Amino acid sequence: MHNYIEKLHWRYATKQFDPERKVSEEDLETLLEAIRLSASSYGLQPYEVIVIKDPEVKAKLKPAAFGQPQITDSSYLLVFAYNTNVDEKYLDEFIKTNSETRNQPLEAFDGLRDMIKNSVLTFSDEVKEVWASRQAYIAIGNLLSAAAELKIDTCPMEGFNPDEFDELLDLKSKHLKSVALTTIGYRSDKDQLKDAKKVRKSNEELFTII
Ligand SMILES: Cc1cc2nc3c(=O)[nH]c(=O)nc-3n(C[C@H](O)[C@H](O)[C@H](O)COP(=O)(O)O)c2cc1C
Repeated sequence: MHNYIEKLHWRYATKQFDPERKVSEEDLETLLEAIRLSASSYGLQPYEVIVIKDPEVKAKLKPAAFGQPQITDSSYLLVFAYNTNVDEKYLDEFIKTNSETRNQPLEAFDGLRDMIKNSVLTFSDEVKEVWASRQAYIAIGNLLSAAAELKIDTCPMEGFNPDEFDELLDLKSKHLKSVALTTIGYRSDKDQLKDAKKVRKSNEELFTII
């Protein structure tokens, strides 16, 4: 079996982390870079990630995640929150960053600007929020794979109350809404699920080859 696939078998949504084993800051930086390099629609990255290291903040958030122990036992809690302000101003900033990064005049990005203006900026708030959330999930997928590569455990989580998280982290004032979490740490030897076989659709069920 290819080494990468072996690592994807090794990873699982960790329920019980070892609170004594901490993921290093250096490894955390690598994982954050994997998030940062994730693909997104037009490259707009319409989300931010709140990286929570402070045990007190994690403890405060835990009840809003139905008391799931991963929140406090893991080394880091990442909150993925989409931007609610993807508007003309956001687009201007994005085009400016493109122009500066690639050392080209702003006008070189007129085509891109028009495409985004005629698509994303015409979405209703509801559609825009679904679209923005999807981009955040791509980053979560990347994070899980990158962590598996480093033999670091993760648990992606939707089991939390976004409104309560937004309130506790004061996200509204930053034009953000939380959509999913990921905890990062090392599995506990006691986690019964750590050796469980993967339950997945068969190739026939999942893939249509034409
Ligand atoms: C978007 C998403 C939300 C999830 N929410 C939770 C959660 O709140 N708590 C939890 O323990 N696991 C959660 N999971 C983990 C899934 O149950 C798990 O990924 C799935 O059963 C497949 O198993 P595996 O990841 O261990 O291979 C979530 C997974 C995803 C992708």
